[in-house]
Amino acid sequence: MLIPMQRIVLARRPDGAPSEADFRLEDTTLRELGEKEVAVENLYLSLDPYMRGRMDDAKSYAKPVPIGGTMEGGTVGRVIASTSPRFVEGDIVVGQFGWATHGVLPAREVRKAATDYAPPSASLGVLGMPGFTGWYGLKELGRPQKGETLVVAAATGPVGQMVGQLGKALGLYVVGVAGGADKCRFAVETLGFDMCVDHRDYDDAAALRVALAEACPDGIDVYYENVGGMVLEAVIGLMNPFGRMPVCGTIAYYNLGGLGAGDAPGPNMLPRMMRAILVNKLNVHGFIIMDHWDRYGDFLAEVGPMVKDGRIRYQEDVADGLAAAPANFLAMLKGGNFGKTIVRLAGDGA
Ligand SMILES: NC(=O)c1ccc[n+]([C@@H]2O[C@H](COP(=O)([O-])OP(=O)(O)OC[C@H]3O[C@@H](n4cnc5c(N)ncnc54)[C@H](OP(=O)(O)O)[C@@H]3O)[C@@H](O)[C@H]2O)c1
Repeated sequence: MLIPMQRIVLARRPDGAPSEADFRLEDTTLRELGEKEVAVENLYLSLDPYMRGRMDDAKSYAKPVPIGGTMEGGTVGRVIASTSPRFVEGDIVVGQFGWATHGVLPAREVRKAATDYAPPSASLGVLGMPGFTGWYGLKELGRPQKGETLVVAAATGPVGQMVGQLGKALGLYVVGVAGGADKCRFAVETLGFDMCVDHRDYDDAAALRVALAEACPDGIDVYYENVGGMVLEAVIGLMNPFGRMPVCGTIAYYNLGGLGAGDAPGPNMLPRMMRAILVNKLNVHGFIIMDHWDRYGDFLAEVGPMVKDGRIRYQEDVADGLAAAPANFLAMLKGGNFGKTIVRLAGDGA
């Protein structure tokens, strides 16, 4: 029996900032199951900054979405059919099923959702790819030590929430950078950060640097890099000797295109950046979490119980219906989200 479904495809490649016209909602049918495959009805779709990169036909760590192809995306779904012994109908699973109401994937690309610890949607955020990214980047590359100062921007997004709360749990002094007073209040009052600086209060990197210097009287030992741009410019001169900079994301540059594309407007930061790295003997370490998926079990064993008992809190920003995905994705890229950006496609999976 053919199952009707909807999907959102990439209609055209953006030139600079993307717009809703770059996407198209289509009616289609779910393809037949092959051997050792799983079909799901998606319950929740995750919207993440990396998807901006998939819209460009540019050199990167992953292939672009083809024009007319389903937008790539992680989902939590309920299994509706399976030809794999690993999954049965009704299982709640996670996979890259895409911006779609339904999907089919090989069973080896699907895992059970972490519902022992939290509701299904959490497997896209705090206990999913972004939370895991924050844990890996901070612990493995940030090498945080009790009493040190940690700065993280995009502080109330799913990566920043994890980084800052883990930092506090490890005994660090944690300063967030976020866009807006509400986000900053949330970072301090709900997530337990020591301070949060609102980057929208400052016109340029020099002014932001003064604010960060006041917020970090002992300098910065770990800068967990999520954004680049003005925040990076402000932070670089405040790093302490032997500081660590896990480079997780540079969202301020995502509309410039892929590797080899244009430069950001403004002064050339390279000389200042390279001198700071040399003179302060900084460890700047880029990483892509898909290279470290073998560590997901360690992450879940450590952080799952912390989420379950409330030591790690999380905020989700949930929209309803597949058609809402483009607008919420575009808003998230510009800071319009408050917490992990998710689209609810069906019931809660319970
Ligand atoms: N390396 C990896 O494998 C990996 C995996 C997952 C995520 N990431 C990266 O981690 C970063 C955070 O991801 P997330 O899912 O937690 O995103 P998120 O925080 O939910 O959303 C992105 C946030 O970036 C901030 N932002 C956007 N433009 C900015 C700018 N020019 N300057 C300062 N802040 C800006 C906005 O927050 P404010 O309103 O607070 O400014 C926005 O809400 C992203 O760069 C993402 O690409 C990397």
